[in-house]
Amino acid sequence: MKHYIVKGGNALSGEVEIAGAKNAALAILAASIMTNDTVTVENVPDVSDIRAILKTIEVIGGYVEKVDRHTFRINGSGINRDTAVDNEFVRKIRGSYYLIGSLLGKYKKASVALPGGCNIGLRPIDQHIKGFKALGASVRLASGRVDAKADRLVGSHIYMDVVSVGATINIMMAAVMAEGNTAIENAAKEPHVVDLANFLNSMGAKIKGAGTDVIRIKGVSSLHGTTYSIIPDQIEAGTFMFAAAATRGDVTIKNVIPKHLESLTAKLIEIGCQVQESDDMVRVVATKRLGRTTVKTLPYPGFPTDMQPQITVVLALSKGMSFVTESIFENRFKYVDELTKMGANIRVEGNTAIIEGVEQYTGSTLSSPDLRAGAALVIAALAADDYSEIYDVQYIERGYEDFPEKLRKIGAHIETIDTEEEKRRFMFQVG
Ligand code: UD1
Repeated sequence: MKHYIVKGGNALSGEVEIAGAKNAALAILAASIMTNDTVTVENVPDVSDIRAILKTIEVIGGYVEKVDRHTFRINGSGINRDTAVDNEFVRKIRGSYYLIGSLLGKYKKASVALPGGCNIGLRPIDQHIKGFKALGASVRLASGRVDAKADRLVGSHIYMDVVSVGATINIMMAAVMAEGNTAIENAAKEPHVVDLANFLNSMGAKIKGAGTDVIRIKGVSSLHGTTYSIIPDQIEAGTFMFAAAATRGDVTIKNVIPKHLESLTAKLIEIGCQVQESDDMVRVVATKRLGRTTVKTLPYPGFPTDMQPQITVVLALSKGMSFVTESIFENRFKYVDELTKMGANIRVEGNTAIIEGVEQYTGSTLSSPDLRAGAALVIAALAADDYSEIYDVQYIERGYEDFPEKLRKIGAHIETIDTEEEKRRFMFQVG
């Protein structure tokens, strides 16, 4: 079975380029079918979640042209009001539920199979549904699909009970072509919410306030074509920042927006890393064993839940006792058992991991429970003594472009292998 083999112990050093943001791309690609004109999207990351949404757009009648590895031309004029979205691709990814908002916004009707995505806890969509209903749609959940329709969508005042990235994005898409004005209060402020708003505005939408608690939308009758470049991936960048910290390395992470990384930078400095920022890069240097801290995941600009496993891996190697509290998803500590196999001393009580730092991890055979935890286990393996093998890397490939290749460029010993022969070759090469 395809998996990664890692020989740990090398301090990572050098430069790495960050790809476009997966979660922004999922929303933007779903929104790109909201006009009948052609839309060009640049800086699209080449990861399996994105291939799945592109395939879904194609299967439902959209035209998708690959201009180069990271640029796509999309035309949604071949999709119609009665198009149902239900195929092998759509159920694989969480982001496919953005097609509910985009189809409902454009055609006032959407029928979409319910999303998959990472198994990190209950992932209700009640806030999405509340928003669609507030705009005048009737919504039915049956046989694993969402059916939403309206004669007309009318702008409304919507107060979100929880801060939800997905619901904010979905409601924004449904509202851009509603009649009149919409206000989304207690909206998510994540960079990809802002990126989607900028993209829709470049198509002629009238959205203000994205990035604050209140997003105001003035409905327009139609959207037009555009060319748009997706923001860099905050979580991919963060993953490399923490990989540098865990291996006591010196890594310059290029093509980032340092502002989006502030909560990560602050924690790295607090535990003893040096972090230098310039226009579009951050450099993380760790020269000694790092220190302890307390972390709580929160909506942006708080510490992102998608970086929780990566910081835990670093803190479990740091001096003293650290506490990591997960406040967004209830089932996000499954990887702790794997880290324990490597010698970590972590006890999970409720939604808090109590971590007593150890000096060193030992290599082990590991299984990725989900996308971000999988990347975190790779970081642990890079910091560990000896060899590790990491299975279920299909989760990692959902969101990281060329992960082993990028790590190799900064000095990691990591290879994707499938056979015993490939394993022997790797071990022979790295010694
Ligand atoms: C998105 C990201 C995911 C990230 C998460 C939080 C994508 C494709 N995924 O997921 O990587 O971890 O944001 O930053 O962009 N909730 C409700 N009702 C709802 C919707 C959400 O109660 O209708 C709750 C969830 O259970 C969770 C919290 O709100 O506890 C936040 O979830 P949300 O922000 O919606 O996450 P996703 O959009 O699913």
